Amino acid sequence: MPLASPSSENMLTGRRIVLGITGSIAAYKSATLARELRRRGAEVRVVMTPGATEFITPLTLATLVDNPVHSDFTEDEHAGVWTNHVELGIWGDLILIAPATANTLAAMVHGQCDNLLQAVLLSARCPVAVAPAMDLDMFTHASTQSNLKTLAERGVDIIDPGTGPLASGLVGKGRMAEPEDIADHLARRFAADLPWRGKRVILTAGPTHEPLDAVRFLGNRSSGKMGFALAEVLAARGAEVTLVAGPVSLETPLRVHERIDVQTAEEMNEAVQARWKDMDWGVACAAVSDFKPAETTSGKWHRGDMPEAVVLAENPDILATMGRSKQPHQTLIGFALESDDGQASAQGKLERKNLDAIVLNSLKDDGAGFGHDTNKVSVLFQGGKSVSFELKSKYDVACDLVELWRTTLNP
Ligand SMILES: Cc1cc2nc3c(=O)[nH]c(=O)nc-3n(C[C@H](O)[C@H](O)[C@H](O)COP(=O)(O)O)c2cc1C
Repeated sequence: MPLASPSSENMLTGRRIVLGITGSIAAYKSATLARELRRRGAEVRVVMTPGATEFITPLTLATLVDNPVHSDFTEDEHAGVWTNHVELGIWGDLILIAPATANTLAAMVHGQCDNLLQAVLLSARCPVAVAPAMDLDMFTHASTQSNLKTLAERGVDIIDPGTGPLASGLVGKGRMAEPEDIADHLARRFAADLPWRGKRVILTAGPTHEPLDAVRFLGNRSSGKMGFALAEVLAARGAEVTLVAGPVSLETPLRVHERIDVQTAEEMNEAVQARWKDMDWGVACAAVSDFKPAETTSGKWHRGDMPEAVVLAENPDILATMGRSKQPHQTLIGFALESDDGQASAQGKLERKNLDAIVLNSLKDDGAGFGHDTNKVSVLFQGGKSVSFELKSKYDVACDLVELWRTTLNP
C-alpha cells in the first residue's frame, strides 16, 4: 500500500526540525513560526537558550509543537536526568535558529558550548539555518558581519533579516524574516536537496526464507539494515521508493512510498517483476536464496519421520531477469557478498546480469556484511571504473552509494 507521496508539494511534511530560539525580542515571532512549521507537516522540537525564556515561555512553545521544550542541560538535577543534546542533534533533518542573536552567532563561530542549544549545534550532523534578528547597528557591526560570513562559508544557511522599524525605535535592517517567509525558505531548501525527485526506484532488502516444513526454513543472516538504510536515504532525497522486503524486523523508513513484505525468493521475484517496467532504477540489495527445498511439507517434521536428505531446486534469478528486460532509461544495481575478495566474481556478475554497477562487500572484512551496523564496500561500474569506501555506518555507506550512483550513472 502506498505510504507517502514524494510528489507532494509540501516539502516540510515529515521533516524533523529542531527550532532553536535565542534571547531576542523577536522570540515572540517564534510561536507563529513553530505553528507554521507544524501546519506544513513538520515535526518540531524546540531548544531555547536561557535568554530566550525571558522573552517567551517554554510552555507556549511546548503546547504549539506538542513536544517538551528543552532549555537546560539537566532536566532534574537532583535525579541526575539530563537532556541528550547529541540525540537532539542527530534527530533533526535541519536545525533552524530563529531568532538568532548576535551572541549566539558569535558563539557558533567559536564553537562555544555554554548552553544546551550550543551543545546541540556542536553535535549536529544535519544542516543548520539561522534567521538573525537584532538592532540595525548590531547587525551591521563588523564582528556580526564577519561572523555571518564565517558561518556562511561553513555551509550555514543565513536567512536574511528584513528592513523596517525595529524594537529600538530605529529603522533599518535587522528584523527577523517573517515566519511564513522562513517556512517558504526551508521548503525551497528541502526541494533543492532532492536530486532524486521524480525517480522511481524499486529496492529489495533482507533475506528470503525458503520453507522446509511448516515451521523451518532455509535462510541466511541478512538483517536488511543495508537495504533499509538505502531506502531511507533515497526517499529522503526525493526518490519514490518501492521497498520489497524479505522477513526482517525493521520499521519502514520515513517517506518510503510503498513497502511489500515477502518471505520467499519466488514471492520477491513476483513482486519485483510486476513493477520493474514502471521503474527508473532497480537496486537489488536483498540476499536472495539461490535455491530452495524442492519439496515443502505443509505439516511439521517430527523426529523419526524426517526425510533422509533434502533435495534442492533453483530459485528464479531476480536480478538476471531484471537485467534481461532492462530498458534504455533504466539503471540496475546489484550487490555481491563474497567470501574472498570477490572482485573477479563481482565483475562477472556485472557483465552476465546486464547491470550498470555492482556493490561488493567481503565477509573477510571485520564489521562488514550481514547483521553489522557498519559496512565496507567497493563499487564496480560498467566500463571499468571502481570506487572503494572505508568501513562506515550502514547509513553513511548508503549516503555515499546514493550520491556515487547519481553522479556516475545519471549525471
Ligand atoms: C529587551 C532585550 C531585547 C534584546 N533583543 C536582542 C535582539 O533582538 N538581538 C540580539 O542579538 N540580542 C538582543 N538582546 C541581547 C541578548 O538577549 C543577549 O545578548 C543575550 O546574552 C543573548 O543570549 P543568547 O544568545 O544565549 O540567547 C536583547 C536584550 C534585551 C534585554
